[in-house]
Amino acid sequence: MAEQCARLWIAGAPHQIILVGRNFARAEVVAADLRVRSPVTNVECIEVDFCSPEKIQHLADRIFSGGAVDLVLIAHGVLPDQQQCQIDLNACGEALDINGISPVLFAEAFAGHMEKNNSGTIAVISSVAGDRGRRSNYVYGAAKGMVTRYVQGLQHRLSGTGVRAVLIKPGPTDTPMTLHLKQQGARLAPVQRVAADIVKGIAAGRLVIYVPAKWALIMNVVRHMPKVLFDRLNI
Ligand SMILES: NC(=O)c1ccc[n+]([C@@H]2O[C@H](COP(=O)([O-])OP(=O)(O)OC[C@H]3O[C@@H](n4cnc5c(N)ncnc54)[C@H](OP(=O)(O)O)[C@@H]3O)[C@@H](O)[C@H]2O)c1
Repeated sequence: MAEQCARLWIAGAPHQIILVGRNFARAEVVAADLRVRSPVTNVECIEVDFCSPEKIQHLADRIFSGGAVDLVLIAHGVLPDQQQCQIDLNACGEALDINGISPVLFAEAFAGHMEKNNSGTIAVISSVAGDRGRRSNYVYGAAKGMVTRYVQGLQHRLSGTGVRAVLIKPGPTDTPMTLHLKQQGARLAPVQRVAADIVKGIAAGRLVIYVPAKWALIMNVVRHMPKVLFDRLNI
């Protein structure tokens, strides 16, 4: 999703982009593609440990020492095997760390700098899975629920300032993360469409973006469904 968003951003105008990934070589592949698409755009890659609070803080400090940042998109995550998380607490802990704690640490590190500058946007990708726990993916859902609550709180903290926190909640989308679901015949939204909605929503100043938009309605129903009915659903 982040790569598709970056493609849209650089198509509009030249940008200065910093790709932060766990693997420099993999980030460089994405960077090379972006440089070909927009030779006037400057793309730099940084490798970091996504679960180290110290390294995340150091990264944010280093990036801001080079000047203010207009927009941060926090877009990492994995879809863990729910059954595995139930029998292996290491798998459960890792899923909670990378999908929940890590995005919060990144947002917090960048929020501090943006607040000092009184400008900037922090967009965080959560998920519709965080809106209500379901038996098929509640460990992932719990981590995303944490991200959702965190961004709500951050929005409250930043209200009245020049900094904006944006909460993005995609429904099932066709990306490498969901390849196995696609192979099982799941219906997934095209990532290009989801990225276009994210880019448009951020530009329009929206604070909560369900993508595709129909998920706002669907999750409203799911959130309010009585437990007696909800328990009968195999979701
Ligand atoms: N696809 C969906 O249906 C869907 C729905 C709702 C929300 N989301 C959320 O959307 C965001 C983007 O996901 P996507 O769908 O675009 O999937 P994706 O293409 O697989 O991207 C996920 C990214 O997370 C990175 N990542 C995974 N584990 C990591 C770790 N331990 N340390 C550092 N980076 C790690 C991956 O890095 P590598 O390239 O190094 O593997 C990859 O860049 C995620 O937050 C995801 O939870 C996705």
